[in-house]
Amino acid sequence: MSEENLKSMADLVAHSKHRGFIFQSSEIYGGLGSCWDMGPLGVELKNNLKQSWWKAMTYRDDIDGVDAAILMHPTVWKASGHVDNFTDPLVDCKVCKSRFRADNIDLNAPCSNCGSKDSFTEPRNFNLMFSTQMGPVEDTSSKVYLRPETAQGIFVNFPNVQTTMRRKLPFGIAQIGKAFRNEITPGNFIFRTREFEQMEMQYFIKPGTQAEAMEMWKELRWNWHLENGLRKERLQWKKHEQLAHYADAAFDIEYQFAHGWGEMEGIHSRTDFDLKQHQEYSKKNLNYVDQLDGNKKYLPYVLETSVGCDRCMLAIMSDAYRTEFPGDAEKERVVMRFKPSLAPIKAAIMPLMKKPDLEGPATALLRDLQKDFKCEYDTAGSIGKRYRRQDEIGTPACITVDFDTLTDHSVTVRDRDTMVQERVALDKVKSYIKEKFSL
Ligand code: GAP
Repeated sequence: MSEENLKSMADLVAHSKHRGFIFQSSEIYGGLGSCWDMGPLGVELKNNLKQSWWKAMTYRDDIDGVDAAILMHPTVWKASGHVDNFTDPLVDCKVCKSRFRADNIDLNAPCSNCGSKDSFTEPRNFNLMFSTQMGPVEDTSSKVYLRPETAQGIFVNFPNVQTTMRRKLPFGIAQIGKAFRNEITPGNFIFRTREFEQMEMQYFIKPGTQAEAMEMWKELRWNWHLENGLRKERLQWKKHEQLAHYADAAFDIEYQFAHGWGEMEGIHSRTDFDLKQHQEYSKKNLNYVDQLDGNKKYLPYVLETSVGCDRCMLAIMSDAYRTEFPGDAEKERVVMRFKPSLAPIKAAIMPLMKKPDLEGPATALLRDLQKDFKCEYDTAGSIGKRYRRQDEIGTPACITVDFDTLTDHSVTVRDRDTMVQERVALDKVKSYIKEKFSL
């Protein structure tokens, strides 16, 4: 990473902590490697992002949602190939005991940690799944895994959803949930962590229609990222030249993170691999009966869209985080230019002074706006300082109640991005904000 990019990542990490977006997990105990906690603003931002995905993916005619258990029957992971193939090649430095992914380093070069030469062990495969025990007796038969992807909870529910919702192909199943991977080289803040959330959708289609489904989903998913405010020049497609054994086409949407271009979302044509495997291992018939094609029975093909929620959140935060010198101001302002619907706090209500005359109408307005939006009530410091504080967390509207309010029943609404202030009647503030910021 270049000096400048290192600084911008370090700035974002510091800002995230300072402003209550993201904290190191178990910080008072020294932290836990590559695990992060969402703070009060982080959880709002993440919930808004999940809501944006959920709406885009399930508020349609052809997709249902599920929320499957994290713990699944262990044979699921045998059938999916994760027990045998979900591995990374790992080497240790015999001198300093550092661990590396063998495919990420030059095994003939000295150890990058201690400089020792010829110190690496032979590469060995390391399974990335976390395992635990179910029930009080610890033996091999009670071993279960923390799911490494949410997709399998969808595949095994294919017959349940198809029959209960009386679905005909093509249709999809969407899910948001936690996934766990014992990554060897996690890092870059919340880009690669050991516990993360995925937003995945499996679109079940008639075999032979995968190219057209791929085109449709590539376009929809690309546009979703743009609609969430990501800058187009920081997005690119990557076509997989080497395909996984189950895929017949695969594309990634990459984002230009501070540490470089990285995968944010995968759009993969997975054939009938997963359903075929689950049919074989479960011995249950998973065939679809195509009433529109002479009651033909077959296993549907699957077009998958899979985006990491935390990784997407990192892109949203990196994109929104700006340092600006507004107008002739000498002091820089830090501003998170979130799309308003994603912003953790939608409006900050500020009585000009801490006086009962002003606090009365200000709290009345707060109570009314809180019925619809997450708001903050801020009385500390000068108005200028309060604006800056709200800019730093990306609040689209700052509303000041001043002495004129007592006579004209209006307030000043200041726009985060333009910093333009408008006078708005108290009883119109809610509709004004809703309309202006499309909330
Ligand atoms: N079901 C397909 C699947 O899981 P993947 O490429 O392994 O595919 C999908 O993961 C997405 O999940 C990635 O594009 C990335 O956004 C996110 N992801 C994967 N591993 C992650 C990790 N260790 N930390 C954070 N996000 C991760």
